[in-house]
Amino acid sequence: MIYSRITGTGSYLPERIMPNSELTTMVDTSDEWIQSRTGIKQRHIARADESTCDMGAVAATRALQSAGLEPNQLDLVLFATSTPDQIFPSTACLLQRQLEITNGCPAFDVQAVCSGFVYGLTIADKFIKSGSAKNVLLIGADCLSKIVDWTDRSTCVLFGDGAGAVVLQASTEPGVYSTVLHANGAYANMLEVPCGVSKPGEERFIKMQGSDVFKFAVAAMDELVEEVLVTSAMQKSDLDWLIPHQANQRIITATAKKLNMPMSKVIMTVEEHGNTSAASIPLAMDTGIRDGRVKPGQLLLLEAIGGGFAWGAVLVRY
Ligand code: ACO
Repeated sequence: MIYSRITGTGSYLPERIMPNSELTTMVDTSDEWIQSRTGIKQRHIARADESTCDMGAVAATRALQSAGLEPNQLDLVLFATSTPDQIFPSTACLLQRQLEITNGCPAFDVQAVCSGFVYGLTIADKFIKSGSAKNVLLIGADCLSKIVDWTDRSTCVLFGDGAGAVVLQASTEPGVYSTVLHANGAYANMLEVPCGVSKPGEERFIKMQGSDVFKFAVAAMDELVEEVLVTSAMQKSDLDWLIPHQANQRIITATAKKLNMPMSKVIMTVEEHGNTSAASIPLAMDTGIRDGRVKPGQLLLLEAIGGGFAWGAVLVRY
């Protein structure tokens, strides 16, 4: 049996930090409101000339270094993002160019908004389990500051920029135990950037029906964590860490409660990073691994929900 294992992680955050106090000079809000409703204290904001691919390339280089792998040893590059540098080529191909990956391995983007990383992990796992790839680089990166309406207090306080990456390799030991993905496009209008290429328009910023998204997210995460545990024949008590998408502290707390997990077993970065969409899980994972909390052999539950709605979870032994 072939499994996929995470053998390296890396991340990157832009230098510029925007604390809540700065937002109070831009919109009618307060540090108290933002922290009590979301848990967020600050977020990182990319430079005007810093792209999603630039951020992803730094995270990817760090992940490759920690896996001890050269870029040209990769046989698949996946880039999860909803803020690509260009309409085409894919950000994955732009990253190939930036890292000088010239061996001809396939590269493509994964668009599942905040759940892009769990979608990407699922694709990587299936490529490895089927024998189609041995060394996979998966990046989750987003530059949401460039699609946020900085005059809309109901959304601009929530988001930040960043990148995370993992290297997955074929192994005889697990690895990824199970993956569960869902989507329901009936909810498309609840969380969207309404304009695009084939449907041009004036509305080029994030629009969200916040409290409806919140209610859906809590209920969906409740069902999802049960489903992924049943699929892998694991118990709640087997879990060492919950590493959730970092959208809102209150959603994370509700999921941890459902799993009977104390908050000391949850990697939480939303305070410092805000919601970095596809980057949030690999950023949180890399943070927990590099500060020594997450150790080899431990069982991690990763879960996310985002625009679509699209949601999913992965159970993995690190
Ligand atoms: N500062 C002060 N007041 C505000 C702000 C703000 N930044 N934003 C909204 N308010 C006001 C509203 O106008 C409203 O005022 P009113 O009662 O006078 O009308 C009041 O606060 C309450 O607004 P709600 O939207 O009901 O607040 P809620 O408690 O639901 O919190 C929040 C809003 C934080 C957005 C929450 O709903 C949430 O986190 N939703 C989920 C977000 C999420 O998980 N998204 C998924 C992933 S994102 C992705 O996929 C890209």
